[in-house]
Amino acid sequence: MTPTAASTLISRREHFEVVGSTNDVVRSWLGMGEPEVCLAVADEQSAGRGREGRTWTAPSGAALLLSLGFRPSWLEPSHVWQIAACVGLAMAEAAESIAGLGERAIRLKWPNDLVAETDDGDVRKLAGILGETTSLGMAGAIAIVGIGVNVDWAAADFPADLATTMTSLRELSGREVDRDRLLDAFLDRLDVRLRALRMGSFDAIGWSRRQLTDGRLVRLEDRSGESEVVRAVRVDAMTGALVVEDPDGEGGQRQVLSGEIHHLRLEPGV
Ligand code: BTN
Repeated sequence: MTPTAASTLISRREHFEVVGSTNDVVRSWLGMGEPEVCLAVADEQSAGRGREGRTWTAPSGAALLLSLGFRPSWLEPSHVWQIAACVGLAMAEAAESIAGLGERAIRLKWPNDLVAETDDGDVRKLAGILGETTSLGMAGAIAIVGIGVNVDWAAADFPADLATTMTSLRELSGREVDRDRLLDAFLDRLDVRLRALRMGSFDAIGWSRRQLTDGRLVRLEDRSGESEVVRAVRVDAMTGALVVEDPDGEGGQRQVLSGEIHHLRLEPGV
C-alpha cells in the first residue's frame, strides 16, 4: 500500500501492479463500507473499461490509471456529473504543470475526454474518464470516477488503430513525465475542487472555458448508430449538457445529455 499523499481527502489508497479494472476495485471497497474518497491506482489493467462498453488498454507503466470512489449524498443527483468534471479539470491542470505545457494546452472534449490540439490542427485524445453511479438519490448512493491518462507512452508504441487519434504527455512535452508526480499534482488540485464542490461551488467558468467543442461542427452518434451533424454552441454547467443549434437554421438550440450519445466526433469545416 502506498502512503497517503499531500491530499487529505483520501480515505484509502492502494496501488496495484496489475488489476482487472480500478473502477471495480473501488466499487468493491464501497460495497464493503469504505467511506469516500477511496483511490485505486494501477500500473496495468487486464480488463480496463471505457465509455459505452469499449475496452481501455495501455502497456504497463505507460499510463496513469486510477479510480476514485464517492458517496455523493452531499450532492444533488442531477449534479453528480460535476465530480467527473472536477476530476477532468484537476487532471488537465496537473498535466500541464508537470509536463511543462502552456495554459489550456489540454482541453476538455465533451462529455469526458481530455484532448490536445496539434500544430496542424489535429485533435488527439490524451485521457478518458469513465463515470459510473449506483442508487443516486438513495441512501446508499455511490459514484465511481475512473480516469486513464496516457503519460510515458512513446508514439512508436501506440496501437496501430489509435496511432493517429491518440497522444501522450511524453509526446506533447518531448520529455519523460513521471506518473507519481502527476498523481500528487492531480490530488492536490482535486482536493481544492472537491472541497469547493462540497460547499456548493462548481467551477462553471473554468469547465466551460476549457471546452474544445464551442462553435464547432460535431457529429453526434446515438446507440442505434444514427448520427447527425450539428453545431455545438456551449456547455451548460447546470445540467452538464452540450448545447447545440437546431439544424433547421431557425436559430433554436437544444440540450444534448451525455447519456444519449454513443460518440461525439469533430467534423471538418467551420
Ligand atoms: C473512455 O474514454 O472511454 C473512458 C476511459 C476510462 C479508463 C479508465 S482507466 C482507470 C479506470 N478503470 C477502468 O476500467 N476504466 C477507467
